[in-house]
Amino acid sequence: MKAYRAALLRFADDHTPVFDTDGLLVVGPDATGRRVVRAAGDHDALIDRYAGVAVEDLRGQIIAPGFVDLHIHYPQTDVIGAPAAGLLPWLENYTFPHEARFSDEEHGREVADFFLDELLRNGVTTALAFATSHPSSVNAMFSAAQARGMCFITGKVLQDRHSPDGVRDDTEQSLIDTEALIQRWHGVDRLGYAITPRFAPTSSPAQLRGAGELATRYGDVWIQSHVAENLDEVRWVAELFPDARSYLGVYEDFGLLRERAIYAHCIHLDAADRARMQQTGAAAAVSPTSNLFLGSGFFDYAAADAAGMRYGLGSDVGGGTSFSPFHTMLAAYYVGREGQTKPGLSLAPGQLWWQHTAGAAQALGLDGVVGNLQPGCEADFVLLNPQATPLLARKTAQARNLDELLFALIVLGDDRVIARTVLA
Ligand code: GUN
Ligand code: ZN
Repeated sequence: MKAYRAALLRFADDHTPVFDTDGLLVVGPDATGRRVVRAAGDHDALIDRYAGVAVEDLRGQIIAPGFVDLHIHYPQTDVIGAPAAGLLPWLENYTFPHEARFSDEEHGREVADFFLDELLRNGVTTALAFATSHPSSVNAMFSAAQARGMCFITGKVLQDRHSPDGVRDDTEQSLIDTEALIQRWHGVDRLGYAITPRFAPTSSPAQLRGAGELATRYGDVWIQSHVAENLDEVRWVAELFPDARSYLGVYEDFGLLRERAIYAHCIHLDAADRARMQQTGAAAAVSPTSNLFLGSGFFDYAAADAAGMRYGLGSDVGGGTSFSPFHTMLAAYYVGREGQTKPGLSLAPGQLWWQHTAGAAQALGLDGVVGNLQPGCEADFVLLNPQATPLLARKTAQARNLDELLFALIVLGDDRVIARTVLA
């Protein structure tokens, strides 16, 4: 066992942040040998019970749960900052040509290593990520995540139509490859597989049907896709699937709406769509830096909450502009402020932080496993330095309560705040 003494942030079951100014985090193996949180709370209240356990003194810093990125594309690491008129030209002119390079497994390995190091440098310890349509891109990523001991979920992109040579796959082979990858990787160490239709326009009905059949056969595998991101895309889907009730309805018609299904964006949904998200247990990956960069629109927090829909935060790199959870949380705050039916919201900092940790884990069906530091959680955590910059040191020293401290970090923070990232 090992213990760490520092300020300690975690989340209660009602999503509120719990903060010990002089905290103790005790980490050790559980009955199965996984390294988990054995105790978390006030130092003085706990220390006698753990006499004899080595304590690392980190006072002045803050221990917090590792961040969970609910939506990101590892092959788009080099696409960040590519300007385009909107989603569809961005895909055609930048994203597909970059992703075509992943037919070369060595390129996949090099990008996967850089990508994971960048996630960890930014304090992200778990992600649900797109690979590309090339099965070798999935093998490269899983191998890299396994070597680092990360809890990581990815999958081969399915896209058998309306896609250029180099990324388009074959309907039957794509489903055979998906099943083989599930059998090879899902549940190995801390890895999980996600069935990954890119989005409805680039999959034939036969491919979506096959994806839905696999999702039924492998019920604890994840599903990830995009939905209702951009108005041109929504119109295109209505033309391609005239019988569907809505864009989200296409996925539902093919059996792709269930627990552990994560749909990126969910901007242009209607009330019936939100109700179906809630009823099926599917969740939205809110990706505000991407939505602002590509001009896609604004996630409607008030409507999502009214429907009781699950959601969490994702960077959506490379449509998204940053690996930093602080940047994503700040963009989400702006969306709450300005992107709603008036009056705008002022999302609480603890709520934003929850959406990128325990809330994102709950959306994945991994609550109590990652994204929190309650006893029993796998011990993925970050050490935050509230004095990482002169301005941060000045602001955080003046914080009178937890909200002010967390807001200072969200508004002024970036990778410089992450002093250390610890995996299990
Ligand atoms: N819709 C289909 N593919 C993509 C993608 O790669 N990024 C985003 N933001 N939206 C998509
Ligand atoms: Zn995306």
